[in-house]
This record gives sequence, C-alpha cells and structure tokens, in this order.
Amino acid sequence: MNIAMGVSGGIAAYKAAELARLLMENGHTVEVVLTHAAQEFIRPLTFAALTGRKVITDLFATGGGDEVLSSAIEHIRVAQDNELLLVAPATADLLAKFAHGLANDFLSTLYLAFRGPVVLAPAMNSNMWQHDATRANLATLASRGHTIVEPGVGHLACGMVGAGRLAEPAQIAAVVQALAHPRRDLDGEVVLITAGPTQEPLDPVRFLSNRSSGKMGYALAEAARARGARVILVSGPVELARLVDVETVSVRTAREMRDAVMARVPEATIIIKAAAVADFHLELVPQQKIKKTPARFSLELSPTPDILAEVGAVRGDRLLIGFAAETQDLVREARRKLETKKCDMVVGNLVGGEGLGFESDENEVVLVTRRGDAIPVARASKRAIADRILDESLKLRLALHGVA
Ligand SMILES: Cc1cc2nc3c(=O)[nH]c(=O)nc-3n(C[C@H](O)[C@H](O)[C@H](O)COP(=O)(O)O)c2cc1C
Repeated sequence: MNIAMGVSGGIAAYKAAELARLLMENGHTVEVVLTHAAQEFIRPLTFAALTGRKVITDLFATGGGDEVLSSAIEHIRVAQDNELLLVAPATADLLAKFAHGLANDFLSTLYLAFRGPVVLAPAMNSNMWQHDATRANLATLASRGHTIVEPGVGHLACGMVGAGRLAEPAQIAAVVQALAHPRRDLDGEVVLITAGPTQEPLDPVRFLSNRSSGKMGYALAEAARARGARVILVSGPVELARLVDVETVSVRTAREMRDAVMARVPEATIIIKAAAVADFHLELVPQQKIKKTPARFSLELSPTPDILAEVGAVRGDRLLIGFAAETQDLVREARRKLETKKCDMVVGNLVGGEGLGFESDENEVVLVTRRGDAIPVARASKRAIADRILDESLKLRLALHGVA
C-alpha cells in the first residue's frame, strides 16, 4: 500500500522513524511529510534515508525554475498517489487544524485533498490530551470515520505521568496492517448490538442509571462494521460520536430498549447485548418533581423487562452473546447467565475496579461459552477486545452449528 505519513511537531517525532521502518518492512511504500515544527525535533534526512524518497517539508517550493513548476501542485499529487494518510505523532495543533479544515501548511492541505482512510496517532502532555478543545476535535475526527490510535498511559517527556504517550510504533503499524488487509469475515451478517446504560425516570427531572459509557458496545459495532457486517446499534444515552455506516437507534429506558431490540431480532444473525440495562424502574412516574421532605422517603421499584431472556426465547439459531458486569464471582455469574438466558457466550466483565470496565478505554474479560470454555482475554483496548469477542463467536458458531 502507498502510505503518506505525516509527522507533526511533538517530542515523540523520533519514534516516527521506527514506525516508517516498520511500515517499509511490512511491504508498504512510505512518503513522509514533516511539519515545520516536526523539523525542530527530527531531520528530513533520517526519513529520506529510511524510505529512499524525498521528504516533503514545505507547502511552497523554495527553489526556482523546474522545481517550482514540478512541485506547484505537490499536495494534490501526494493525495492521489497514496491510499492511506497516517499522522504519527499527531499534535494537539494538528488535530485542531484537521478538525476545523485549516489548510495553512502542506500536511493540513494534503488532508483536505485526500479521500482515503486516515489514521491519527496523537501524542501530547496529559492536560493537552484531556482539554475540552482536544476532546471536541477528536470527536469530530472520529465522526468522520478516521481511526484514532489512542495514546498510552505512562511517563511523559514533560515529567507528568498520565495519558498522552504516543502508542508504540508496532501497535500503530498493526492498525495500518488491519486497514491494508481488512478481514471481511462478517460479510453478509447482520449484527444487532446494544450499548450504554438506560435511564429510568423517577420524576420529570430525576432518573436511575449506571456508569456504563457505551464504549464496549460502540467498539463492537465499529469492529463488526469493519469486518463487513451490517450493524444495527441500539444505544442508550451515551456521550460518544455517532458511528459512520452503523444504523443507530437511540433509546432511553429499558422498555424502549426492549421494544427496539425485539423489533430488530428477526433481521439479525448475531445479537450482542453489551448494554447495562437497569434492573429496576418506577412503574408510575409522578408528573411533577418529587418534593424534598424532612421525613424518610422510599420508592417502590419494579423489575424491568429481561431483554436477554426474551431474546433467548425467540433467538432460533442466531448467535446470542450476553455481557455480565460483576463486582465478584465473575466466571460463576457468567456461567449462570449463560444457562438461564440461553446464550452461546457471556462476556464476563469485572467492574468497579480502577482503570478497567465501564468508563475506561481498556478492558479485561473472560469469555464463558456454551461449550464449557472460560477463555481469559488479557487487558487490551476495547476495540481489540471487540475483535477477540467476534473471533471467538465465529469459532463457536462453527463448532456448534458448522457455520463459519
Ligand atoms: C519541546 C517541545 C515539545 C512539544 N511536544 C509536543 C507534543 O508532544 N504534543 C503536542 O501536541 N505539542 C507539542 N509541542 C507543541 C507543538 O510543537 C506546537 O503546538 C506546534 O505548533 C505544533 O505544530 P505542528 O502541529 O504543525 O507540527 C511541543 C513543543 C515543544 C517546544
């Protein structure tokens, strides 16, 4: 694959040399574009020597005569010659430029002229990474379908410890590899996925809910779509960017989620219930806000519909995968759920600890299957866990029904 690789001006720019080498080793051709700031950190010569090609350092040619003519529309030529645009490291500044469509240097102009897949590997100080402006820019870029290779957590050059360290070059190269050779093993499948929490109203201004962020369900939807499936995502209220090419049905309560899911079951070939549905709700919600009183006050809650059990009763030969978010006895609870809800697999998910589970970008799970396995999946990004869940689901279906 022909890859245009942008390098912007962060301290991690030196790691881009290793990344360029890995991409070449994987058989890609790499054309490097350095921003002016990147050239403060690393010399063009390093990349020229590694890639055997001229490195682009300027939007406007500095020479005269032929060079001016031949490079006059270089950004369009680079956009047309390359099949993937990768930026590593991507600075906060670069994310802002891309998000807002600025075109005041070679790389940002190339971005606007480019029509293929875009992969961004940000790296910056943790405060810059967590700033609302950066979060908003990332959400915009993700909503355009770009792949964001999330930075890791660790010691940063600025002396802080936190999120913002460039992902390892090998990890970025693996993401590029997956895009270069996409697996299409879900072609023809219709995957119905639920995600996020539900909100059960208590009065016009209050509700019962939980800490689910929806990230696991959205990662599953993204992975299934990338592997060729048509994806229907029934989503509770979450703060995540809408996914491109995924039919999203937004719901609020457990009852709404039940209705949306049951309406779409007939179309589905694989059903994955990753939502954290409320177990209880208030049956008769007062029309007016409940007033504060000095006395004790109690609410009588009723159980919500058991969506997984209802789907289990009508699933036929569809593959059915549930989630069990537990704070203890993970495998035992997952196995109990597998049997009582007639699932093929239950993804056991330990929640309530630090850095894993609900709000985190990473997870560590155990896959309990109808064949009696309990497969531990080590800590990884939710996207990597999503691919592993899909891999094991397909293997299981092959083992159970002889269908790949
Ligand atoms: C020593 C030093 C290290 C820097 N490291 C980073 C970084 O890791 N990430 C980042 O977003 N900006 C970093 N910056 C700030 C950028 O270099 C600055 O925002 C610049 O305008 C980025 O330009 P570019 O996006 O065109 O490459 C650093 C600046 C200095 C002086």
